[in-house]
Amino acid sequence: MAPIYRPKIRRQRSTLHGWGVFALEDINKNKRIVTYDGEKITAKESADREDRYLRRGEIWCFRLNRRWVIDANVGGNVARFINHSCAPNCYSNIIDGTIWIIAGRSVKTSEELTYNYFTDGDKEIPCRCRPGCTNKL
Ligand SMILES: C[S@@+](CC[C@H](N)C(=O)[O-])C[C@H]1O[C@@H](n2cnc3c(N)ncnc32)[C@H](O)[C@@H]1O
Ligand SMILES: [Zn+2]
Repeated sequence: MAPIYRPKIRRQRSTLHGWGVFALEDINKNKRIVTYDGEKITAKESADREDRYLRRGEIWCFRLNRRWVIDANVGGNVARFINHSCAPNCYSNIIDGTIWIIAGRSVKTSEELTYNYFTDGDKEIPCRCRPGCTNKL
């Protein structure tokens, strides 16, 4: 079977926060862009790690379901640098147990990729997705 084409993306400094991930070519709506890789851990293990990460203002753990979490701080790929936005151009979806970041609309070359993290924790990090955003991650 021919390999499936994945759009070219790259890690770059972001105005939202630290590193972000940017499109190197135009991407069609609903195109699967990249998987969110990392170590698969139990929700219990994740709770401890998330406390530790949050003390440094970092979020790496992505909840797969009630039992399992993907920790992109261990064995993660470029997807771990995708920032959050409350008005994102991508969304996440779990397909056959794999987390995918997918274009939510057509994305132009050099746009930063973002998705809504929908964090369910203590929401301590002020969101910088746009001037005046009052949400917290
Ligand atoms: C998965 S990392 C994204 C990569 C991160 N920019 C970096 O350089 O490591 C998630 C962290 O990025 C920051 N972040 C992501 N989106 C943000 C936003 N909209 N506003 C403020 N901080 C954000 C938060 O510190 C969050 O814990
Ligand atoms: Zn926001």
